[in-house]
Amino acid sequence: MFYFGVDYYPENWPEERWPEDARLMAEAGCNVVRLAEFAWAKLEPQEGHYDFAWLDRAIAILAAQGIRVVLGTPTASPPPWLMARHPDLFRVREDGRPVTFGNRREYCPNNPLYHDYTRRIVTQMAGHYAHHPAVIGWQIDNEFGDRCYCPVCAAAFHDWLRQRYASLDDLNRRWGTIFWSHVYSDWSEIPLPLTTGGSPNPGLALDFYRFASDSYVAYQQMQIDILRRQCPRHFVTHNLMGFKYDRLNYFDLARPLDFVSWDNYPRTQWSMQAKVDPSQAALAADTMRGLKPCPDKGRGQNFWVLEQQAGPGGWEVVSVAPRPGELRLWAYQAIAHGAEAILFFRWRTARFGTEQYWHGLLDYDACPGRRYAEIKRLGAEIKKAGAQISGSLVRPCVAMLLSYDSRFALQIQANNPQFSYPDHFHQLYRALYHRHVLIDVVDPHADLSPYRLVVAPALHLVSGSVAANLQRFVAAGGVLVLTLRAGVKDESNAVVNQRLPGLLSDLCGVEVEEYDSLPPGVQNGLEFVLPELTTAHPPAASVWCDVLKLNGATVVARYTQDYYAGKPAITLHQFGQGRVVYVGTVGDTLLYETLAGWLLGLAGVRRLLAAPEGVEVAERWQGERRLLFVLNHTEREQEVTLDCCYTDLLDGSAVRKGTIPIAPRDVLVLQENER
Ligand code: GAL
Repeated sequence: MFYFGVDYYPENWPEERWPEDARLMAEAGCNVVRLAEFAWAKLEPQEGHYDFAWLDRAIAILAAQGIRVVLGTPTASPPPWLMARHPDLFRVREDGRPVTFGNRREYCPNNPLYHDYTRRIVTQMAGHYAHHPAVIGWQIDNEFGDRCYCPVCAAAFHDWLRQRYASLDDLNRRWGTIFWSHVYSDWSEIPLPLTTGGSPNPGLALDFYRFASDSYVAYQQMQIDILRRQCPRHFVTHNLMGFKYDRLNYFDLARPLDFVSWDNYPRTQWSMQAKVDPSQAALAADTMRGLKPCPDKGRGQNFWVLEQQAGPGGWEVVSVAPRPGELRLWAYQAIAHGAEAILFFRWRTARFGTEQYWHGLLDYDACPGRRYAEIKRLGAEIKKAGAQISGSLVRPCVAMLLSYDSRFALQIQANNPQFSYPDHFHQLYRALYHRHVLIDVVDPHADLSPYRLVVAPALHLVSGSVAANLQRFVAAGGVLVLTLRAGVKDESNAVVNQRLPGLLSDLCGVEVEEYDSLPPGVQNGLEFVLPELTTAHPPAASVWCDVLKLNGATVVARYTQDYYAGKPAITLHQFGQGRVVYVGTVGDTLLYETLAGWLLGLAGVRRLLAAPEGVEVAERWQGERRLLFVLNHTEREQEVTLDCCYTDLLDGSAVRKGTIPIAPRDVLVLQENER
């Protein structure tokens, strides 16, 4: 069954309104709501006094309309009575100052007392709803995140380090604490990387980032254990934040969940641009799908979108309004990339509170308007097509490797202030996405055998096992792309004791002779040497230039300027049955768009369909039956040419082979007819 619904906060509204809300939801095709994730103060108004009666009544009203319920554990917003009584529970920021009450996520994830309170409220809720016929699953907390630098975390960090290192000597050696006389003689002397301490030891900082991520993984696990014990029939998930969020290792966070859920806001208060770049949400979705392998099937597991944008976003400022058709289009985009459920955040715009400008499907007055009508249309379509879509899989031949270790290390030391790991990653992703191929975003340790092309942007930190994984993939015939700053660091965030790219040198058949970190506005030129790679004008290199020395590889492109003019910038190396391309610089769009076509050719990956710019093509497989999604992200009518006959799942019509129009911001969901 395909789940379709909204995030609903009945506690924000008078009870008399609830039946009308439920009726309108059902009329829009909703079969699920998420409830209660920020309702701790109402569920436990005083310590140890629990009140589920109001929530029972809300659930009964929704259930009477055939709507199922996902409950949020309410731990992201602790009640004032709790935080006022125990000021030690407040999270401490990187600058050493505790956060104060007034927003949410104020708590320290390692505090044992907070764990006690969490255990109690989650146990009570789980006990109360374990056998409720309308409840199907749980979302733990809300969008885990910020690092805490409190004394409890300091002690927990020391314990974590004790587990990780054989001895303090071992730690001192790996971090290189001899530098500036940081040699620790007791675990308790090890500081947290507070901003007041200045630029920290990179080994210490990386371990702290890993520890902070593990802290939330452990806090989540505590809640999972309670829910699994008490509610074995229910699924357990958490709402993650797509590709951009960078303070947690999402692979670790996803592992114990039944499936990943995430929150999809293509246009929010923070991105005020009028035009949305659809490759951003596509990358987020592909990352979320890649976090967990699909049992028995290889590749990524489908996800839920627990929060899908329902209107303009905004806390202090209000974002550009989603244009007519965009809410539906963005929802289909998530579905095309593997969503098994879409819930819109939120049902009705709050009249009060920090998020009073974060718009829901209904406005303040609760009268159904344009956005409601759009979602109602979508709901009717999902009723028709949902069963055919549900459970179908995305099966890419291209993967990109997301390394949180590398990402953390590059957060700690950007190498060049203009360099951003996520932006670099996105640039490469976007060039492939524009070629209409499917992409999985996976961990560097993942089984790479399903893929023909693997792109590993700025794989800065490389362990022996990751290097071996890449070697296996290439030796067996895969095409691997590595980019600048690859293989620079070992697992302790120390620079390797060999020529760069370190453990990847043999694979690449190059050595980095030297490098040049460029200031803003300074560029070098690139000249392709391979005849099959031509551009109208030379692509530009900026930010960083690795000057390469061939060690078995051949030249793909050279620099054209400065003292390393003529030296290799991009190389190609045969390794076993496969090939490795090393791109030693940050290129412009032209470079990546040109390389993308060539790389897909090298790897023998064909595009799904020829489609004009701004039209996205995606594919899911229901067994051996192909579903094709065509999404027109532009404001103009476009055309695509189909290579076989389909059934349009949204209106049931037959679609013949040949060229067909697609209206502005419209979507085609097509099921391939049996050949
Ligand atoms: C999400 C969060 C929601 C709400 C929304 C709009 O990140 O999970 O609770 O805050 O953003 O700001």
